[in-house]
Amino acid sequence: MSEQLKAHLEFFEELGIEGVRLEPEWRARREPEPSEPIEPNEPIEPDEPYEPMIALQVIRDDLGADCSRCKLHTLGRTQVVFGVGNPNADLMFVGEAPGADEDIQGEPFVGRAGQLLTKIIEAIGLRREDVYIANVIKCRPPGNRNPEPDEVEQCEPFLFRQIDTVKPKVIVALGKFAAQCLLRSNDPITRIRGREFKYRDAILIPTYHPAYLLRTPSAKREVWEDMKRVRAILQGE
Ligand code: URA
Repeated sequence: MSEQLKAHLEFFEELGIEGVRLEPEWRARREPEPSEPIEPNEPIEPDEPYEPMIALQVIRDDLGADCSRCKLHTLGRTQVVFGVGNPNADLMFVGEAPGADEDIQGEPFVGRAGQLLTKIIEAIGLRREDVYIANVIKCRPPGNRNPEPDEVEQCEPFLFRQIDTVKPKVIVALGKFAAQCLLRSNDPITRIRGREFKYRDAILIPTYHPAYLLRTPSAKREVWEDMKRVRAILQGE
């Protein structure tokens, strides 16, 4: 059995799915109505049309390996965690901020929540290296506290530039913080998940954060619904 199929089946098992139904009514999908964005966001056209891999390096250099734009550089971060993955990805995941593992390794979503995210990606037939993964905030907040508004204000322009460079078809906002930040909304994640939003040049799908799934495994079913929708959009359905 391929590694991908194994991961897929493992994720099904974790979701509590015991078998696969072949009857057509089980396969039919309900297409949700696209929602209007809460606030329209226009993509920024780069001054120079760099090739995405180079453009990402330019953004990384602008941010700087030793960024000191906000107070997080004085609050115990080990390094800036820029983002990882395919510069031409159709699918991008946006999380909140690096945690302890990410701070040490310099890569987003490599801890326990990250391992679950990798399984979620594989469950829709992709590999981690096919997608692009970034956070709103590039430095670890102390004790994993929520990022503060001044930190978001300094850091989010770099995320927007990453989005406008990768130009994904679909952006999955992982958790309340990323979803609220991207959509400029105060709505709880329970209200915005299950919907889709036009966002810059992409469709944005908010879903639960994998760290929340580790605490609340029953929510995996909803994430699986969201991921099936992501897969359908990517397949042009
Ligand atoms: N949680 C996040 O939001 N981002 C990470 O990179 C890791 C955990």
